[in-house]
Amino acid sequence: MAFPRDFVWGAATAAFQIEGATHADGRGESIWDRFCDTPGKVANGDTGEEACDHYHRWREDLELMSGLGLDGYRFSIAWPRVQPEGRGPANRQGLDFYRRLVEGLLEREITPLATLYHWDLPQRLQDDGGWASREVVDRFAEYAQLVFDGLGDLVESWVTHNEPWVTSFLGYGTGVKAPGVTDWHAALAAAHHVLLSHGRAARAFRDGGQDGRIGITLDLTHVSGDPQAARRLDGHRNRWFLDAVLRGSYPADMVELYEERVGPLDFVQGGDLAEIAAPIDFLGVNFYQPAVARPGDGPLAVEELRADGPRTAMGWTVEPTSLTTLLLRLRRDYGDVPLVITENGASFEDPPVDGQVVIEDPERVAYLRDHIAAVELAVGQGVDVRGYYVWSLLDNFEWEHGYDSRFGIVAVDFENQRRVPKRSALWYRDLIARHANGG
Ligand code: FCB
Repeated sequence: MAFPRDFVWGAATAAFQIEGATHADGRGESIWDRFCDTPGKVANGDTGEEACDHYHRWREDLELMSGLGLDGYRFSIAWPRVQPEGRGPANRQGLDFYRRLVEGLLEREITPLATLYHWDLPQRLQDDGGWASREVVDRFAEYAQLVFDGLGDLVESWVTHNEPWVTSFLGYGTGVKAPGVTDWHAALAAAHHVLLSHGRAARAFRDGGQDGRIGITLDLTHVSGDPQAARRLDGHRNRWFLDAVLRGSYPADMVELYEERVGPLDFVQGGDLAEIAAPIDFLGVNFYQPAVARPGDGPLAVEELRADGPRTAMGWTVEPTSLTTLLLRLRRDYGDVPLVITENGASFEDPPVDGQVVIEDPERVAYLRDHIAAVELAVGQGVDVRGYYVWSLLDNFEWEHGYDSRFGIVAVDFENQRRVPKRSALWYRDLIARHANGG
């Protein structure tokens, strides 16, 4: 294998998708609790109240990870467990949960990668405008500091935000995700505040003399199609975030387009972009599928289509070559920032758990195999990729799709919380072992 010896093979999850126990130990309400409680927002009226009950079953889940031989585990911290109302002192019980989890990881020689924000904003902050309001930037910086103080002696690697594009454009633009706002100006403001809060937290991390590494995870894609439309869609999905974080500027063509079609970017203040571009130690890349652009309506005058090819159960295109192209492009356009694939995976219709001891999921095995090979090709061409985290360790609450979409390499029977490995988990275990033994 072309992967370096210290390459990290991991799996990823997010707090709201697995923890459940939404009322335990002083946890406050998040925008996702509220969204789930709003009729018509989430498939089948599913909620995160129980999810994988990981809040109580974390020991069993650690054993699972250990059995697979994972080098790393990416999880997120629920802000409303740490600050139930999004401000004020830390709720000790909330932080203690993560301390126990992290201690358990370290005992098993699994390196934790902690994400500070994976979409579960305290509802109380949403009542004041959420990410669309600049006030949230200070709140996030305070929260980040509480977590660094509470866990910084145990956790070395941090992701500030998961997928700012989703937080802002799907949360405040199309409204398909919490908090369900549909206002493009608010979405652009939200994107800016998410980025600013990232930069502020990254700088505080550094200024605090904290040992370790900090980065941000972007959901990036490879866009093809009509050249002008593709350039816009790429500007919207990729460059807006990449340029801000890695170059300290917003792309001029997109500034012009947004100002013309959405309104003045009046939320940007002097000095913000320098703050957003605080040095990072790595860039997290989440990749699922490529996109195809053609001229259309809406603020971008673009329509996003799915590429041709085989599809997952969610209709997402399976096209691994785009991942190689994307990784090579990142190096070409943004230089040698170390990359970590912080999510990659697929939902398929798996057979029911029933009495099975292993669930056969050949399509997921193929998806993972081909995407890991795509990463390996880029690594072979000199792209600095440091790790790969499968999305996801467990079947879980897939946001507005509820429990119907299954991404786990380990199945969960939501009737009784039984965990059963899928073939993909065993395949991944063998790959990790092969790599550890020199390929
Ligand atoms: C990503 C999210 C993750 C999961 C996967 C399928 O956008 O970060 O939580 O929902 O998609």
